[in-house]
Amino acid sequence: MPDPLRPLRLGVNIDHVATLRNARGGGHPDPVAAALAAQAAGADGITAHLREDRRHIRDADVERLKANLRVPLNMEVAATVEMTRIASAVQPHACCLVPERRLEVTTEGGLNVRDGGRPLRETVTALRMAGIRVSMFIDPDPDQVAASAAIGAPVIELHTGRYCDTQGDDRAAELQRLQQAAAQAAGLGLEVHAGHGLSTGNVGPVAAIPEIVELNIGHALIGDAVFVGLDRAIGDMRAAMAAGRQGAAA
Ligand code: PXP
Repeated sequence: MPDPLRPLRLGVNIDHVATLRNARGGGHPDPVAAALAAQAAGADGITAHLREDRRHIRDADVERLKANLRVPLNMEVAATVEMTRIASAVQPHACCLVPERRLEVTTEGGLNVRDGGRPLRETVTALRMAGIRVSMFIDPDPDQVAASAAIGAPVIELHTGRYCDTQGDDRAAELQRLQQAAAQAAGLGLEVHAGHGLSTGNVGPVAAIPEIVELNIGHALIGDAVFVGLDRAIGDMRAAMAAGRQGAAA
């Protein structure tokens, strides 16, 4: 049984700083400056999603992030030949493989690792051979957890979107799926992360899942930062995570 008081890392996703920059076509606000501010405010890592359509983060952003950050860089990418080539050149600490559909507003579901076949296996192998820690962004589904272990990924990130989008009994059922998937994954020797849709209001029960060691959070944090600044938004998120974690240990 993992120690419930194991530290929980916060990865700050800065995609939506780039969304705001791109709305006017200039350089402000700079997502790399935001990443450095998040690092100074205590972020344990920075996450950036280089989408195939480059709607927010761009190639030059990931290169600057890699060159300037002290904390680990986690690149979210689709499992494509192009992204494997870019990630291998940039050399982030980690790559989280995500499904991508051009018309989606955000990453709407987990990766189908079970049916990913040879192309997915080859992507995982290529990234690992490039020395990058590979994570699979999956729904809390036992088949997908087992498939992630079988494909050789050392890490999974559980998609918390459905948990965040539901209420009452439905949310309790989603939380249970997350708890079960995290326990299954840890039993298979996988490191467990989680993210998507998390906010100070809903993060507690997810932070309380003892097998989870990292949360990746973007939209709600950047939204909060509009009102209170990035420093305080990160502090508030950390406090909400710590309260959830402590609750698990109590
Ligand atoms: N983790 C992954 C794999 C994601 O794709 C995203 C969204 O880009 C997040 C975490 C963060 O989600 P949110 O922006 O809703 O906090």
